[in-house]
Amino acid sequence: MKKLILAPSILGADFMNLGDQVAAVEAAGAQYVHFDVMDGIFVPSISMGMPVLKSLRKQTNMLIDVHLMIVDPPRYAEDFAQSGADIITFHYEACDDVAEAIDAFRATGKKVGLAIKPNTDVSVLYPYLHKIDMALIMTVEPGFGGQKLIPSTLDKVLTLKSFCERHAINIDIEVDGGINFENFKTAIDSGANVIVAGTAVFSGDVEKNVSKFMIMEEAIEESKNNG
Ligand code: DX5
Ligand code: ZN
Repeated sequence: MKKLILAPSILGADFMNLGDQVAAVEAAGAQYVHFDVMDGIFVPSISMGMPVLKSLRKQTNMLIDVHLMIVDPPRYAEDFAQSGADIITFHYEACDDVAEAIDAFRATGKKVGLAIKPNTDVSVLYPYLHKIDMALIMTVEPGFGGQKLIPSTLDKVLTLKSFCERHAINIDIEVDGGINFENFKTAIDSGANVIVAGTAVFSGDVEKNVSKFMIMEEAIEESKNNG
């Protein structure tokens, strides 16, 4: 089984206390920090970009997992790489030429992820799986934090996981949107190993929330390793 990773999405954070909240997430053991970039075109919202990413890079040793929800993503491949991203994920739906986009991100030397929206068929990812490090199955419509997970998206995770197993493809599978303490295990059982959570981490006591996820993660890993 691939290592389970929690990736708190700072879109759910209090930006006036971002430094403290990132430190709390890191202290509690989260391995990645998820960084959502929205351009107001690919998705209706506008979130944050390079200046915030550079500050975050100085503040943390966690892997920074950048999720680009922007049109024509290769335009900014080098900028996000230079600003401190470790993994850069862009959307299948945002590219004219996906293979060319993957090459552009590969050239930065960073890890590369490819994302699909809830209504995009999972099979569109198949031709690219051998060229990427991570596939991101959106479990809500991208654009906003705090939405409810769409259950049918987890069927796509199951399908992708079994395709990868049948073809001996060893990539990470990330889920993003509406993950909470109730559906966390279901998402992992479906085959995801990188779990994004915004609202569930940043509502209330951040450090406690991350600890709770980490304890669940360890219990799941232990039961899988023993069974
Ligand atoms: C949605 C973003 C998510 C979002 C997750 O477009 O990509 O990363 O921040 O937030 P929650 O966990 O609140 O759904
Ligand atoms: Zn995201």
